[in-house]
Amino acid sequence: MNPEPRTTAALGKFHAAAQAQPNIALVKYWGKRDVVLNLPTTGSISITLDSLWTRTEVRFVPGQAHDRVSLNGRSDAAETKRVVACLDLLRQRAAVDWGAEVDSRNNFPTAAGLASSASGFAALVRAGAQALDLGLDETELSMLARRCSGSAARSIFGGYVEWARGRLTDGSDSVALPLLPADAWPLRVAVAVTSIAAKQIGSSEGMRHTAQSSPFQASWVATQPADLTTARNAILARDFDALALVSEHSCLKMHALALAAQPGLLYWNGATVECMHCVRTLRRQGVPVFFTIDAGPQLKAVCAPSAIGQVKAALREIPGVLHVLDSGLGAGACVIAIGALEA
Ligand code: DP6
Repeated sequence: MNPEPRTTAALGKFHAAAQAQPNIALVKYWGKRDVVLNLPTTGSISITLDSLWTRTEVRFVPGQAHDRVSLNGRSDAAETKRVVACLDLLRQRAAVDWGAEVDSRNNFPTAAGLASSASGFAALVRAGAQALDLGLDETELSMLARRCSGSAARSIFGGYVEWARGRLTDGSDSVALPLLPADAWPLRVAVAVTSIAAKQIGSSEGMRHTAQSSPFQASWVATQPADLTTARNAILARDFDALALVSEHSCLKMHALALAAQPGLLYWNGATVECMHCVRTLRRQGVPVFFTIDAGPQLKAVCAPSAIGQVKAALREIPGVLHVLDSGLGAGACVIAIGALEA
């Protein structure tokens, strides 16, 4: 569960910790209209989880020239580069040039299609903004998180969230907004983990490659507004069947788009496909469940609370499923006490 937000006053100056949960897109973000500002080609809609988390501690050190970044106890050059770019945005807002110490941990596999960049950058922005006492509201935090990783804009908020495409070239109208709180419709999510290897082609590169070479790019963009309207209405009406149809449609359409790139991007393995059949079979039998899959081989099965036991049991039976995680819907990014990082 999410810890209660607490003040970091006791942590010392320029030092804060925050927690954020991954979110799972039901209407997918796949494509950028501006790479520098990280503006999306289309809007997207997601649900924020609760039992999976990233906890991140940030300490700015006046006079220190470099940043030191530890992710799950390790230092990775490519990830550090993205973290430093995010710290630069925070430093720019505060008009300081101090280096920072960053320690971040996930309680789930990183970079395997479980949206670790969403929770990671939402937690980093939340903690960094607190450490520098920037006094940003959630919309401003979401805009900063968007610059670091698009899906992170949505993890600033809890429950059901929509990230608008926006029209303005400066990106000021491309913000995430909450649609419905988690407890207003507490669906559950089972994540069938079919591989813990890092994905070969990350989302940013996958999107760029797709936009350049997939013949379906124009229809992806043209059909997205209708999917967003359908999903938004289904969420507001708590219409599970309507949400199931549009979510599977958006997922399969995103993968069809990426599969048709040259060369095609194939994020699934055999177990992913078996999980899709399993979810469809359960639904035909009357179980309220649907699937979605991001840029990796894990399948996320979204279901009514009453169905979670049956869904998990069915997914666990599939050869190639390593384990099944289980989550409810949760809150947005929040500041936590330092000790919570160890919990
Ligand atoms: C398939 O947010 O990871 O999960 O903005 O380049 O960091 P960048 O991409 P990222 O992409 C997420 C793609 C997705 C769909 C989604 O979350 O909407």
